[in-house]
Amino acid sequence: MSEQTAPQNEVVTMPRIGDPAPEFTAMTTQGEINFPSDYAGRWAILFSHPADFTPVCTSEFMTFASMEDEFKAYNTDLIGLSIDGLYSHIAWLRTIKDKMVFRDMKDVEVTFPLVEDITMEVAKKYGMIMPGEDSTKAVRAVFVIDPHGIIRTIIYYPLSLGRNFDELLRVVKALQTADHFDVATPADWRPGERVIVPPAGSCGVAKDRMEGAEQGVECVDWFFCTKDISEEQVEAAIRAS
Ligand code: BEZ
Repeated sequence: MSEQTAPQNEVVTMPRIGDPAPEFTAMTTQGEINFPSDYAGRWAILFSHPADFTPVCTSEFMTFASMEDEFKAYNTDLIGLSIDGLYSHIAWLRTIKDKMVFRDMKDVEVTFPLVEDITMEVAKKYGMIMPGEDSTKAVRAVFVIDPHGIIRTIIYYPLSLGRNFDELLRVVKALQTADHFDVATPADWRPGERVIVPPAGSCGVAKDRMEGAEQGVECVDWFFCTKDISEEQVEAAIRAS
C-alpha cells in the first residue's frame, strides 16, 4: 500500500491492485460487518458515494439494487459506503423505496449493506477522499475484491459522474474468466469473444504458436495470440451454481 502526504500533512493510504483489502469492522444498514473476512470465498464490490439524498447517488443506488441479483449470479456481493450516519442511510433508503423513480425503476429496495462512516475511518483507509475534489465527501470509488480478499480492480469517478454499471458487471465477469481459464481479455471484451492466451515465455513456444502447433490458438504475431472460449463455457465456469 502506498503512503502519500496530504496537503494538511495528514498521512493517507491508497490501496493498490494486488494489495489485501484493508480490514475494518463497521455498522451498516444490514448490521455489523467485518470486511473482508465476512466475504471470504465470494467476490465483493465495495463502493463509495459522496452523500445520501443526492440525485446522482440515488440513480446509482437504484441501479445497483436492481442489478444485485445479477451480481449475485456471479458470486459477487455489494457493499456501499458514504460519510453519513446510519439514520441518514436508513432514511434515504426508505425514500428511495417509497418515492424515487429513475428510468423504469421504482419501488426499489436496497438490501445490500450500506456502511456508515461518519468518522471517515474506512474512507481514509481506502483512499476514497480526494481533497482536490471534496475534503468531506468520498468520491465514487469502486474496489473489486476477490474471494481471497485481494483488491483486483480499482475505479474512481468524480462526484459529478455516475458510474457505468454494465462496465462493473463486465469487470467481474472478465476477472473471473481470466482466473478460471488463465487468460487475459482484450479491449471491450464480452463473454463469447476471443480471449488472449498468456504470452509465449520462450522462443520455442513463440515459434510453435506461429506455426499453428497449439490447437485452437491463432496468432496475429508471436505476442498476440487468441483462442475461442464460447459464452456457454464462460457462463458454466463463472456463474454461481
Ligand atoms: C449527486 O450524487 O448528485 C452529487 C453528490 C455530490 C456532489 C455532486 C452531485
